[in-house]
Amino acid sequence: MDKIIVQGGRRLQGTVQVSGAKNAALPILASALLCDGPNTFTNVPVLRDIQSTLQLLSHLGARCSMEGHTVQVDAAGLNNDEAPYDLVRKMRASILVLGPLVARLKKARVSLPGGCAIGARPINLHLRGLELLGARIDLSHGYVEAVCEQLRGAEIYFDMVTVTGTENIMMAAVLAQGTTVLRNAACEPEVKALADVLNRMGACIIGAGTPEIVIEGVERLHPVSAAIIPDRIETGTLMTAAALTHGDVTIQATEPEHLEAVIHKLRLAGAQIDVSGSQIRVQGQRPIQSVDIKTLPYPGFPTDMQAQFMVLMSVAQGTSLISETIFENRFIHVSELQRMGADITVTGNSALVKGVEHLSGAPVMATDLRASACLILAGLVSENTTEVNRVYHLDRGYEALEAKFQQLGAAIQRVKA
Ligand code: EPZ
Repeated sequence: MDKIIVQGGRRLQGTVQVSGAKNAALPILASALLCDGPNTFTNVPVLRDIQSTLQLLSHLGARCSMEGHTVQVDAAGLNNDEAPYDLVRKMRASILVLGPLVARLKKARVSLPGGCAIGARPINLHLRGLELLGARIDLSHGYVEAVCEQLRGAEIYFDMVTVTGTENIMMAAVLAQGTTVLRNAACEPEVKALADVLNRMGACIIGAGTPEIVIEGVERLHPVSAAIIPDRIETGTLMTAAALTHGDVTIQATEPEHLEAVIHKLRLAGAQIDVSGSQIRVQGQRPIQSVDIKTLPYPGFPTDMQAQFMVLMSVAQGTSLISETIFENRFIHVSELQRMGADITVTGNSALVKGVEHLSGAPVMATDLRASACLILAGLVSENTTEVNRVYHLDRGYEALEAKFQQLGAAIQRVKA
């Protein structure tokens, strides 16, 4: 397995371009199953999760290709309704093919995505939504089996805000007969981006990006060309690295309005942030101020930025309280940060972070996607060398992150296994 070696102490300076959003690309690629023709998507990030999704779509009978950052998916030949365990286990977002398969083929057999490091991550709300739309759901031998005569519009209230649950049910409802109303729907930009693509395909969705989404079912969708929105979490990760190293970094091709909570908190932590169009300039000031955060559904502070922000707080002046309200086990990175000298005390879903002068480099292990990014950030501000192992987690969701940091002057390299 590859590892990443970071020599701490460098200020990040310069300009870097952010990639397309993984969490927008995954549902949008799945939406291609709803069309019987060739969709073209641009600004698709080159990631393991994208490869896994294309592998799954091909298994279902779609013709897929990726050249650079452009992907083509043609589901005219969709002929298989089964998403097998060995494909789904690689990436739990594979569950996003469930809604489109039921809508298009009237049946689906999808392996249940197990839990993952950050939590149990059940899909009960996805399944409840499909039942309310008229699908019969059976669980057997680790698979979800869904079948229906014809999906019919329904009123669906999500007990919890679920991003992929909202996306899955929205994709199922676009071909249902009648009107579907989703309440307590997720408002993440990736949900709105999916709805925008579906509407361009001929769907009729109103209110995406708000807690209430109304979907008028249509007969069929037609293929389109669409660009993937910028990755707000990668942008936030790069911004945090600039603040952390007291650097001066300009990030291009961003969507600043997707980052209001992150910009607000980084400014409170002392960073100077200037937004101009799709560019965000971050100048890190000394000292870093301690700031409390609580992760919340969008537009609150994103859970996917929690680990990265914790690194910033671990070398801030003062004490901060970090509360994780979305996932029940998303402090796995804490033990590795403690090995690097961070002073963090976890009680339930809160972490009390007392800033220290500096962290010290160490061999550490990544356990999930955002934890791996956090450990690289910690290496950037540690004395001597940090070795981050199991970086396959990183490659699932960040396109060439070490190359982007090298471009900004970091002493970082990937060592091939
Ligand atoms: C999406 O996951 C993202 N993944 C996650 O990003 C992100 O952390 C998460 O939303 C929250 O913003 C993709 O978009 C591919 P949820 P998702 O359903 O949809 C509970 C990353 O690092 N829940 O919004 O799986 C669930 O257990 C990843 O890029 C149920 O109980 O998250 C969690 O506690 C990590 N039943 C909460 O809701 C359900 O049926 C929010 O989960 C569904 C969810």
